[in-house]
Amino acid sequence: MKKKTIRTGIVGAGFAGTFHFGCLQKVYGTDVEVRGVFATDTEQASAFAQQRGIRAYVSLDKLLDDVDVVHVCTPPVVHEPIAIAALERDMFAIVEKPLTGYFGDGSDDFNGDTFAKQDALDHALASIERMLAAEAKSKGQILYAENWIYAPSIQKEREIIEKTGAQILWMHGEEAHSGSHAATYAHWKFSGGGVMIGKGCHPLSAALYLKRVEGKTRNGTPIRPRGVSARAHAITRLKNFEDKGHIRCDYHDIDDFSVMHVVFDDGTIADIFASDIILGGIHNWLEVAANNHRTVCNINPNSAMKTYNPLEVYFEDIYVVEKTGTKQGWSNPSPDEDWFTGYPQEMEAFYRSIAYGEAIESDSNIAADCISTIYSAYVSAEKAGAEVPIKTF
Ligand SMILES: NC(=O)c1ccc[n+]([C@@H]2O[C@H](COP(=O)([O-])OP(=O)(O)OC[C@H]3O[C@@H](n4cnc5c(N)ncnc54)[C@H](O)[C@@H]3O)[C@@H](O)[C@H]2O)c1
Repeated sequence: MKKKTIRTGIVGAGFAGTFHFGCLQKVYGTDVEVRGVFATDTEQASAFAQQRGIRAYVSLDKLLDDVDVVHVCTPPVVHEPIAIAALERDMFAIVEKPLTGYFGDGSDDFNGDTFAKQDALDHALASIERMLAAEAKSKGQILYAENWIYAPSIQKEREIIEKTGAQILWMHGEEAHSGSHAATYAHWKFSGGGVMIGKGCHPLSAALYLKRVEGKTRNGTPIRPRGVSARAHAITRLKNFEDKGHIRCDYHDIDDFSVMHVVFDDGTIADIFASDIILGGIHNWLEVAANNHRTVCNINPNSAMKTYNPLEVYFEDIYVVEKTGTKQGWSNPSPDEDWFTGYPQEMEAFYRSIAYGEAIESDSNIAADCISTIYSAYVSAEKAGAEVPIKTF
């Protein structure tokens, strides 16, 4: 069969735009023609385009004129309008995490610490509804770029659940490191919250996904989250925090530690940690305690490789693993970090879906449930952990 050619465009020329472009080079099920990039930082967009031999577009509209799909690789605050613009033209939108959220009331003195979190939940749910309504009217679709769902260890666990009819009793997982570097990350008005949304969305989405898989396998219907109790803290903003220079600590109005205790509609549970206070490199894992097996998905670090380096300087030019503080001594280099993280797998799945209509694992519904759970969790954290019900989609 002749491969279809899909014309594509990238919106955002930063960190995510870079790895999306890189992963597009690995898509093999379709031919991908990257037409160009659009970003509000026009200098960054020009450099991005020049380095890759693609065009830098002057507006989103002009880019949309030339493509079948756009990658939404911008800060979360503009995911909704960009995705809707694509959907209104019957195009596909590959949307980075988090799908959407609440970014304040537009006032200069908006402060993530002090506003009523019920507002955030109400606005985030309204944003979700607008995106889902646009998708329902469109011939295009939202493809939710949640790489954890496509990480090979999570997909292997899916196979175990499907083939053994497992019942998941408890999951616990974490995404953590020593602090995100994007300047905008420090402000609720750009990120829609702190670490609970920025990092918590990854293990949470994987947990929501696996309970859906279990429900569909055992009863024909997905098992959804029902309620959440959460705590969120700003540890590096504590007056008594002593900065030794290893942990980012210039956050403006966001949480840097969070825990969500999710109760599913079958009464089983998941505990999801997210933080920006962890040394030793990125710490991404999910453990599944089922009635017939137990699995630990070590996304990063994992034990695929172990190396001992007696002197930092030897590894000066060698990438070891995300966010590691030192390359000296024993470490776990990731021989193909993108692969373990699920980036090329999600792109392959999305382009097969666009070209041939193949079903995807990470759709707008799971993205919506994730956002709904997290903003319910912020409401709970404001009430020092009281359980808050979750609306599902
Ligand atoms: N899945 C992952 O592992 C992962 C990792 C990092 C970031 N992300 C997500 O990717 C998204 C982008 O993050 P990033 O780290 O690349 O940010 P970044 O700051 O590195 O880049 C953002 C880019 O978006 C552009 N931009 C901003 N507003 C725009 C607008 N209105 N229209 C067009 N372009 C606009 C900027 O000019 C810049 O080029 C976020 O949603 C983030 O959560 C996901």
